[in-house]
Amino acid sequence: MSLLVASDLHVGYHGNDVLHGVSLTVDECEIVTVIGPNGAGKTTLLGSLMGLLPRRGVVTIDGVEMDGGAVEVMTRARVALVPEQRELFNDMTVHDNLLLGRYPRRSRGEKLKPSDFDEVFVLFPRLAERRGQIAGTLSGGERQMLALARAMMGRPRLLLLDEPSLGLAPRIVASVLESVAQLAKAGMAVLLVEQNARAALQVAHRAYVLELGVVTMAGTAAALATEPRIIDSYLGIRR
Ligand SMILES: Nc1ncnc2c1ncn2[C@@H]1O[C@H](COP(=O)(O)OP(=O)(O)OP(=O)(O)O)[C@@H](O)[C@H]1O
Ligand SMILES: [Mg+2]
Repeated sequence: MSLLVASDLHVGYHGNDVLHGVSLTVDECEIVTVIGPNGAGKTTLLGSLMGLLPRRGVVTIDGVEMDGGAVEVMTRARVALVPEQRELFNDMTVHDNLLLGRYPRRSRGEKLKPSDFDEVFVLFPRLAERRGQIAGTLSGGERQMLALARAMMGRPRLLLLDEPSLGLAPRIVASVLESVAQLAKAGMAVLLVEQNARAALQVAHRAYVLELGVVTMAGTAAALATEPRIIDSYLGIRR
């Protein structure tokens, strides 16, 4: 059974649907990417899965149907979203941002320990060096690391990631996506939304193509990376 199953999702704003019957699955420890052009509905998809936007259709975690429109239900089911705008607490330090990231565990009644920080500092040593720095003064790449690390502090089973490569230099994109791969190896499933299709298809196991609110292609990332239409529309050059 898949960890996440979304079936026939219809989601919109002010009565106008932008997702028209989207279905997808994510298995345990799997990295699944959704690629697609601007305005395709990728952010809307993650928002609706997280319960931030009302939806029609069914979302299950481990076969249990999630109540639509309730973020707390998703948090309790150990799903976390790193939103497009990152939404860090800019006036607070790196350390305090991470501390707040543990909140979902507290609400699940889990025991918190000072060593909770160790795992994220192993993955992001840069954040350990900068734990006293005010988040608003971090570089773009460091902010991205902090957003990921803060989500990890809540020990999610499924991480929803919106455009982690946005605005980052290619070298930083590679290191952020390498961190995503490590998260999956450590047992976390990741649903990764990306416009950088090349980078996303390199790190993902499977991929969906979302265009105008409809899934137009799906398959293994390796298969889609060699598909002529994907190469023409999303990868630029024929290899
Ligand atoms: N709050 C909102 N109110 C009205 N329309 C919205 C709202 N948010 C998004 N939309 C519209 O829904 C459509 C899908 O937007 P969405 O942000 O999900 O696209 P996206 O695939 O994430 O795009 P991008 O790659 O640019 O981030 C767009 O046409 C957008 O204008
Ligand atoms: Mg978006």
